[in-house]
Amino acid sequence: MPNSYPDSRGLALTAGSPEAAEAWDRTVRSYLGMRRDTGDRLKEAYAADADMPMAHCLRGYFMLLFSEAKRWASGRKSLAAARQAAETRPVTGREATHIAALERWVEGDMKGATALWDGILTDYPHDLLAMRLAHYTHFYSGDSAAMRDSMARIMHAWDPTVPDYGFVAGCYAFALEEDGDYARAEQRGREAVGINPDDPWGTHAVAHVMEMQGRQAEGIAWLSALEPHWTQVQNFRFHLWWHRALFHIELGDYDAVLDLYDRGVREEESADYLDLTNAVALLWRLESEGVDVGGRWREVAGHCADHATDLLLAFVDAHYAIAIARTGDSAAMATLRAGVREAAQADGTQAAVYRDVAIPVCDAGAAYGAGDYGRAADLLGAVRYDLRRLGGSHAQRDLFVQMLIEANIRAGRTARAKALIAERAERRPTSHWTRRRYAALFGGEEGPAGQRAAALA
Ligand SMILES: [Fe+2]
Repeated sequence: MPNSYPDSRGLALTAGSPEAAEAWDRTVRSYLGMRRDTGDRLKEAYAADADMPMAHCLRGYFMLLFSEAKRWASGRKSLAAARQAAETRPVTGREATHIAALERWVEGDMKGATALWDGILTDYPHDLLAMRLAHYTHFYSGDSAAMRDSMARIMHAWDPTVPDYGFVAGCYAFALEEDGDYARAEQRGREAVGINPDDPWGTHAVAHVMEMQGRQAEGIAWLSALEPHWTQVQNFRFHLWWHRALFHIELGDYDAVLDLYDRGVREEESADYLDLTNAVALLWRLESEGVDVGGRWREVAGHCADHATDLLLAFVDAHYAIAIARTGDSAAMATLRAGVREAAQADGTQAAVYRDVAIPVCDAGAAYGAGDYGRAADLLGAVRYDLRRLGGSHAQRDLFVQMLIEANIRAGRTARAKALIAERAERRPTSHWTRRRYAALFGGEEGPAGQRAAALA
């Protein structure tokens, strides 16, 4: 009996039956489409073959993608099952490398795992799973050049005739956007969504281009038009609503933001890390504009405190610190601050990021929440050009730059605040957040700055 069947693009998959291989393939497609039914698709693969090595491996990847400490044990279990299955039936070299990458990742060696996925792509540029995982870890390593190049190296093997090309175009679009190549990013993103309007990542890439270029009205129109396609999207749809809320903030339309927050961004009281970072970043921005957000911090901060010991992604902990500090939960803050210091001493890819960036950023969040704006400004100012290493997108990390500016304003460091807002106005002249501060800081002055302030007011 053969034990190898081709996936949609012809790559050999070790499976007990063609049905099992097809079910696995559907699971990967569902994962790329960020669909709610991904878990059900994986169950179908298990139902067709209870011991398929790549099903175990995929389950392990999914567990680690939750980025929650409590899922790590399940990831290890899946790794053990994948290893054992690979002993009883011979797997291909590509599959063996996937299992090795899962091992690296579960050990905290995100960099090593990423290198293995990029290695697979050198020989098998059609490996959709390796592509998406490398894209994810390059993103959370804050390395936009590596994310761009990882995609660029495989594009020669893809065109619209290759199954699932649209997802690849969407990922390339996002990589190009984070690298600042907005024109090509928008073209690829629109191509991805043209092929499949249900593709949330391609949709998201174009929204990022519009965010970076200050095209708020277009961004709102783009996301509103595609919203009917998100009914089957998992929690990533909250992040798409977050993007729409950012556009509304930049237009000064805070009622729309609060409505989107309640109806979309926090539609569910989710404890997922991305959902929490969305919430923190919106609530902080709203309050920085003087908007009363009511009791919303408490709900979010409670979940952040529950996850203060996960310590898997420095980017996430930097957000948790803001929420925990805002509600004055000193016990949770002490736990988080001790945790990030411990994480800085551990092995693994994120340790240096915790040491160099997350510790000062978490301390800045704590200082800001306690009203010590001078200390927050000092801490953020010292790491400003290292923030990229936290991972996440430019739009997400902008929260910390806004906090740096606001901390300088609140600390009465007017000269520094003026310099920073002048710099920001060059890049984001259409942002209400920026214009309001520019007008307040430079208003009434003689000369070009004062004239510009009058024009921006
Ligand atoms: Fe985003």
